[in-house]
Amino acid sequence: MNKTAKLELDGKVYELPTLVGTEGEKAVDISTLRQQSGYITLDDGYANTGSCKSKITFIDGEKGILRYRGYPIEVLAEKSTFVETAYLLIYGELPTANQLKRFSSLLTQNEMLHEDLKYQFEGFPAHGHPMAILSAMINACSCFDPELMEPYNPAIFELEAARLISKVRTIAAFAYRKSRGLPAIYPKPTYKYTENFLHMMFSEPYQDYELRKEVVQALDMVFLLHADHEQNCSTSTVRMVASSRANLFASCAAGVCALWGPLHGGANQAVLEMLKSIHASGDDGSRFIAEAKDKKSGHRLMGFGHRVYKNYDPRAKIIKAKCDKLLAALKISDPLLDIAKKLEETALKDSYFIERKLYPNVDFYSGIIMRALGIPVEMFTVIFAIGRMPGWIANYKEVMDDPASRIYRPRQVFVGPAPRDYVPIDQRK
Ligand code: SDX
Repeated sequence: MNKTAKLELDGKVYELPTLVGTEGEKAVDISTLRQQSGYITLDDGYANTGSCKSKITFIDGEKGILRYRGYPIEVLAEKSTFVETAYLLIYGELPTANQLKRFSSLLTQNEMLHEDLKYQFEGFPAHGHPMAILSAMINACSCFDPELMEPYNPAIFELEAARLISKVRTIAAFAYRKSRGLPAIYPKPTYKYTENFLHMMFSEPYQDYELRKEVVQALDMVFLLHADHEQNCSTSTVRMVASSRANLFASCAAGVCALWGPLHGGANQAVLEMLKSIHASGDDGSRFIAEAKDKKSGHRLMGFGHRVYKNYDPRAKIIKAKCDKLLAALKISDPLLDIAKKLEETALKDSYFIERKLYPNVDFYSGIIMRALGIPVEMFTVIFAIGRMPGWIANYKEVMDDPASRIYRPRQVFVGPAPRDYVPIDQRK
């Protein structure tokens, strides 16, 4: 029997139920608080508030633990693939060989965009940010998919999920090609997911891109490491939109917009720009660290800190190790990696970062890998979005499959003006 929490307000004691999660996380269920006491709770940035119960991803921020459906991220990064992990996140179990074959063939069957969508691409300026294009084109895709306009139907969800995961890759590559004034390269049905993305990004009509095993495996792992991360800003956005019963594409297009912010998925682009400016200034990083500690500077050490991880982000550890291996395999030495390592070493010894438990997060090293793979910096957050798509889809499904799920509609504490009379315009000062 779970314990109850006692809350004393205005001389009255209210009892609220508590619950304990699989890993021992504890919560007070406040769903009857307002009805019992007239009080609501207030929690800036939801730092202490759970929006839902979920079975998808578990994070222990203090211990630096991340598991997808119970499987440690380190094991999946070593033994799984992005497509297999996408299936795991969405359907809750690792696929059998037949299930994986069926899922992969659905991705292959849905990799093309409707030919009329190329007119949408023609409307974007070459300098249009690919995250804006990605979000717009996901919704544009849904216009060619009337079934999607029907209310959520589990019977066609599998097809819709495969369509979105497959097409997001094609949209991203087409957006990149458009930004460079290059012709769109169509997917090849013989290629697997990540191979096809690299092919669509970097092949030419007259010459196929050479798919190197190390490059394909590194990018596939980057997608996998970004695949889900419990109730982060963009995933909560997807659940918020899904709670109104909007369709899958609309919910995930909203997720793209939330991810774009520099405090969230946009941080990988901001990290690279930070490293480049440090490199250009000849600073060994110590000047930048001093600025990052000074609130007035407006600078932060991008790629550092996390709302949940108060320890090293396990994904950052994996990516950092992969950086060294990949650059060695490609015979690349990147001064920005050296600067990143120096920044990390300095920050982790500095009391400002130690006291605030600020460690490298997933974005700190991911840009170095993407740069080594030839991905342009403006596409970094798009890579994050492609990786995160299965996590968004899994969360969308969890909302839609839950008969008890209700529309997300937080309360507020009003601190604006008290009631007042209308003043005719000729009497306003
Ligand atoms: C992602 O939520 C997820 O799971 C996200 C994500 C995912 O997979 O979906 O993991 C992906 O978004 C990773 C985070 C990427 N963002 C960045 O790297 C941007 C830089 N980091 C910060 O802006 C910040 O750490 C956040 C946004 C990540 C977390 O912000 P919080 O939890 O609101 O923390 P805060 O801003 O209140 O900071 C607490 C203190 C403050 O100092 P004091 O007021 O206590 O003196 O730490 C300081 C902050 O000024 N601080 C930093 C800092 N991050 C926090 N100071 C310098 N550099 C930083 N990077």
